Order: sequence, then structure tokens, then C-alpha cells
Amino acid sequence: MSNTTRHPRKILVTSALPYANGSIHLGHLLEYIQTDIWVRFQKSRGQECYYVCADDAHGTAIMLRAEQEGLSSEALIERVSWEHQNDFATFGVAFDNYHSTHSRENRELSELIYTRLRDKGHIATRDIEQMYDPVKGLFLADRFIKGTCPTCKAEGQYGDNCEACGATYTPAELIDPVSAISGATPEVRSSTHFFFKLPDFADFLKRWIHDDHVQPQIRNKLMEWFESGFNEWDISRDAPYFGFEIPDAPGKFFYVWLDAPIGYLASFKNLCDREGIDFDSFWQQDSDAEIYHFIGKDIVYFHALFWPAMLHGADLRTPTAVNCHGFVTVNGAKMSKSRGTFIKAATYAEYLNPEYLRYYFAAKLSSGVDDLDLNLEDFAARVNSDLVGKVVNIASRCAGFVKKLGDGQLSRHCAEPEMVARFIAAGDTIAEDFEAREFGRAMRKVMELADEANTYIAEKEPWVLAKQDGRDEEVLDICSVGINLFRQLMVYLAPVVPAMAEGARHFLQLGSLDWHSRHDLLVGHEIAKFKPLMTRIERDRIDAMIEASKEDLVEEQKLKETPKGPLADDPIADEITFDDFAKVDLRIVRIAKAEYVEGADKLLKLTLDLGGENRTVFAGIRSAYAPEALEGHLTVMVANLAPRKMRFGVSEGMVLAAGNEAGIYLLEPHTGAEPGQRVT
Ligand code: MSP
Ligand code: ZN
Repeated sequence: MSNTTRHPRKILVTSALPYANGSIHLGHLLEYIQTDIWVRFQKSRGQECYYVCADDAHGTAIMLRAEQEGLSSEALIERVSWEHQNDFATFGVAFDNYHSTHSRENRELSELIYTRLRDKGHIATRDIEQMYDPVKGLFLADRFIKGTCPTCKAEGQYGDNCEACGATYTPAELIDPVSAISGATPEVRSSTHFFFKLPDFADFLKRWIHDDHVQPQIRNKLMEWFESGFNEWDISRDAPYFGFEIPDAPGKFFYVWLDAPIGYLASFKNLCDREGIDFDSFWQQDSDAEIYHFIGKDIVYFHALFWPAMLHGADLRTPTAVNCHGFVTVNGAKMSKSRGTFIKAATYAEYLNPEYLRYYFAAKLSSGVDDLDLNLEDFAARVNSDLVGKVVNIASRCAGFVKKLGDGQLSRHCAEPEMVARFIAAGDTIAEDFEAREFGRAMRKVMELADEANTYIAEKEPWVLAKQDGRDEEVLDICSVGINLFRQLMVYLAPVVPAMAEGARHFLQLGSLDWHSRHDLLVGHEIAKFKPLMTRIERDRIDAMIEASKEDLVEEQKLKETPKGPLADDPIADEITFDDFAKVDLRIVRIAKAEYVEGADKLLKLTLDLGGENRTVFAGIRSAYAPEALEGHLTVMVANLAPRKMRFGVSEGMVLAAGNEAGIYLLEPHTGAEPGQRVT
């Protein structure tokens, strides 16, 4: 895309709307930081760019959470909204507007879009049977029902799939189902639901996803979904529900995911009304504006199928692109509350500078959907070496001489015009990388330039020259070049580390570090006294943050301890005799191999070495462990469990793990135990 067009591009950018029932954590932050960097870059280039977001405030989960805390839903979402906005501000995520899906604008726009769809025949109604909690007086979503798996008989499984064997089923098939909310036995009840007729848009969507609106990997995923066919989408929920009532349908509410993406429009509308921006010029069908949604890969279905279909059906334009990113892992594994790697934004910020994280994410981000690992060793090493060791170092080596020899004023001429010109020219390719969301590539180029700048200074050795007579002017020239190079780097880094850039701008006494401003050389220019712009990450701060995150977990558990809440403990099993117990053949095994299972979100496929013999076991531990973290570890298995045929293959036993909502922990023997040994 051209960067020199006379008219700025009109760009609207969104990040997914965080649920109003939980805190912002480092996983979320990947998305908001990625989006914010892109937006800051666009603004730096002079585009007319707006970044909006909101809290996703509706749904049963929020209603129940509020009840648990003894608050109204409105009071809960109000409090959480402030927490979220505070966290975002701390991390430099600078929305032009932050709104709520529980807002007047969202109600009006949801009604508008729904009635347009309805009047064109894209809404159907039909009676469906569903589990109903007679004590709570509400219909139960699958995840609010627990029972015994019809396939493997594991107890305490959720209503849609079994964590133990991976079977999928409907809640009606569960044995002895109970409501996870009240503990009551649910009844089957019938009620009328409203459906969005997604199949009406199959041809439209097929074209749409092949038109570069999604990344290639996402397109492939979507094609798989196409092949399995589309269903109509259930968009209504019965009262009581925290949301918007459907027009002309008393007691029926929009399902949270219906009005959530409309929240993007609502937040933008709220901004437009406040600032006199022309809303329609962005959203009407022939709009020349660009619209981008940044989302995580877990919510592609909603953004790349339902959402464009809804917009198209309601005669509004569809997004220019849905930009999808992968998931954050910490030290190679899924973020884990028990390991202290489920780190809240607020906890991180108590211990570490938010800009460290912004830089690290940028350095590792590409335009793809791969997961991004926050390896805490690498994080400290990278930030210390790049930002502190390379970039800040340039300024700190030069500033003192400028102060002393130039009385704070840079040379009146540039001693290395070619070098500085090269640094300026590099801005064009770095801009292409930013535009394409190849932030990692951009950061590598910036650090290569930083290396060059440091080499230049190291070779010129101004500190040696400064001790020689009559060479002061030369020293000032060299250091003035250094300061000019530093300024170029800060222009390129500003979207990533805005607070550091603000410090640099002040040090450089410049009105702006915008992209175009870099063309004016700093000659005969006065700079301020240098103050360290960023300090090194200390390892003990990271350790303290991990410890504090473990404590966050304890706090949360306290909050959730309600007598019969969804997280109530499982009952203790009945007594057994010693003979019963002795029938179980427990063996030490070595995990020889651990792999993901295509199509099963909960399972890992383990190859277990019993000291000569290998067994295959499918274990429902994917949420807690990355496969590579398990290989080589010892654990305990039940070796005489009858083999079980599962969707993905035969499972020849089970491994022992402890678990509840706080996490899953595989049992591990003390060192010295040998594979094959019997546990007695
Ligand atoms: N409320 C919905 C989005 C509605 S958008 C109309 C939702 N909320 S969320 O709070 O669960 O997630 C918000 C965003 O954060 C999503 O894009 C999600 O993919 C992203 N992430 C949540 N955890 C994440 C990681 N661990 N890693 C990276 N992104 C993650 O979904
Ligand atoms: Zn099962």
C-alpha cells in the first residue's frame, strides 16, 4: 500500500471485546498490544485511524458471577470495565474509545441489524428441547451440566464432551446429569428459539473467505468447516438472561455472541457521536474506509462466518480483513494458574515495566497464527540486550559529550550524511513490515541498525579522542551522529514502546517522533539532559511476579468457595476393601512421547514406556501440559485397565493425575524410580 498518497487512509481497527467477568491477563495482552502497535504505526504515518473496543458484558456467566458476588450484573460490569481500562492504560493500549455491549448504541444497532435480517427472511424460529434447572429456573448451557460419561463412565464430565476419553455427546446422553449451578437434576423442557439462517450465505461466504479477508491458514480451516456443512445458528436465549430482549419476542434475549461483534459498531458510533465523525461513511456498503478486526484463533468462527454474513444480510459492509493471532504460552506450556504462569496484567505491572512485554511480543510477532511463547529467560535476555544494551546505550554513550563539548547542542553539520541517510531510508522497508504485521521482522531490522550505530561509535572511540588535545570538535561530530541515529531508531520503535519513545522525545527536545519527522536532520539542535530511558530486567522481579501469580490463585479460590457453586468439590467416593485396591496394577512409566490429537481439544496421546513394553494412552491433560514438556518425565499408570476404543484410537490404560478447576497435575515419583516398577 502506498505511503505517500495525499489523502490519509480512513481506517477503523478493533480488538476482540474482553468478557466482563474476568481480569485481563498476558494472553489477552498479546492481542491488545499487537493491535495497539499497528494502530500507533498507522497514526504515526498520518492516517486517519480509530481504534475502538468495549467490554463484552452479556450472558449467563456474567449474570451468575454477579450473583455469586452479591452484586447486580450492572454493578459487576461497571467495576470490571474500570479494571480493564486501567490495565489497558497501564500497558499503553490507547483506544480512541472504550465502550460496553450493554449500551444504548448497542441495543439500537442490534435491533436494527436483527430486524433487517428478519425482514429479509434470514431468521427462523423453531422449538428445541434443552436441559432446564428447576431450582435456578433457567435453561442450562452444556457447560453448566455435569454427569457421568456415557462412553467411559468417567464421573463429573461436562455436558458436551468427556475430558477423560474425548467422547462428544449431547447433555441428554450424560448418565445422572446434574446442574453444575444448583446441583439439581435437570429436566428436559421445550422452548422456542430464534435462528440465523447461515446457510443462506454459503455462497457469499465462500467467495468472501477466498478474497484475502483472512490469512491462508484460517482460510484452510474455514474450508474444512464448509465441507462439514453449515447449520443455522441459535441466536436466542430464554429469560432470565443478562442481555437485550429480542424485538417482538418477550422473554427471548439475544445470545451474547449476537450482540458482541455489533459492539464494535456501537463503540465506534459512540465515538462518532462525540467527535463528529461520519459513522456511515465507514459502514455503508460502498465505503472507502478500511476496517480490521484483530482476534485470537479461538473466535474465528464468529468473526469470519457469522459476522460477515450478518453484516452482508443487513446491507452493511463487511470488514477489510480479520487478523488472527495465535495463543500465548509461558515457558513452553499453556498458562497455568498453579505454576504461576497465569499472569494477570495488573500483577505483571506491579513487578515489571509494561514496555518490556510490548517489545518482547513485537519481537516475536508475525502475521501468522502460530502460538507465541513467552519464555521468561529469553524475555529478560532479549529486552536487556536489545532495548537496554543496544538502543539506550547509543544515547547514553553520546549524550554526556554533547552536554560537555557542545553545551547541549549538536554539531552544526552532519559528519556522516550517508550513514544517516541509510538509517532514514530503512524506514521505508520497516514501514512495510509494520503494515504487514511482521513486527518481528521490523524489530530485527531496527536492531541491526542499532548494532551498526554501536559499531560506528565503538570504532570511533570518542572517549579516547576526548582525552586528546584539540579533537573536541571531532568528538562532538561523532556523538551528534550517534544522537541522530538514535533518533531514527526511536521513530521506528515508538509504536512498540511509546513510553520510552516519549522519554526519548523529551531528551531530544522534539515536537514529534512521527514517521515523516525523521527526514529533518538534527543539526545545531539542543538536547536535554540524558536520563536513563529504560533499565535492565532483574531476574528476581520475574520470580516475584510468578510467586505473586500463585497467590492470585489463592485469592480467586476464596472468592469461588460457594456451597454448591459450579466449582464445588466432588463428593468423596465410597469405601473399598484392601482387596479391591490390590486389584489395581499401578506401574511407574516413562513418557516416551507426547502428541496433540487432531480434533480433540482436551487430549494428549502418550506413548508410555513400562521398561521394555510400550503402551498408548489418551489422557485429558492437554489444558495443563504442552507435549514437549512431558517427554522424558516419569509418572504412574494403571496398567491393567481394560483397553478402551476411543474416537482417536485404543487407549491402553490411564495415567494418574490430580485435578480440579485450579489445574491438572500428573503424579511423578521421586527420582530413582524405574519404568516398570510396581507401585505398592
Ligand atoms: N468476548 C469474546 C470476544 C467477543 S469479540 C466480539 C472473547 N473474550 S475473551 O476475553 O475470552 O478473549 C478476548 C481476546 O483475547 C480473544 O481474541 C482471545 O482470542 C484473546 N485471548 C485470550 N486468551 C489468550 C491467550 N492465552 N493468548 C492469546 N490470545 C488470547 O473471546
Ligand atoms: Zn468418557
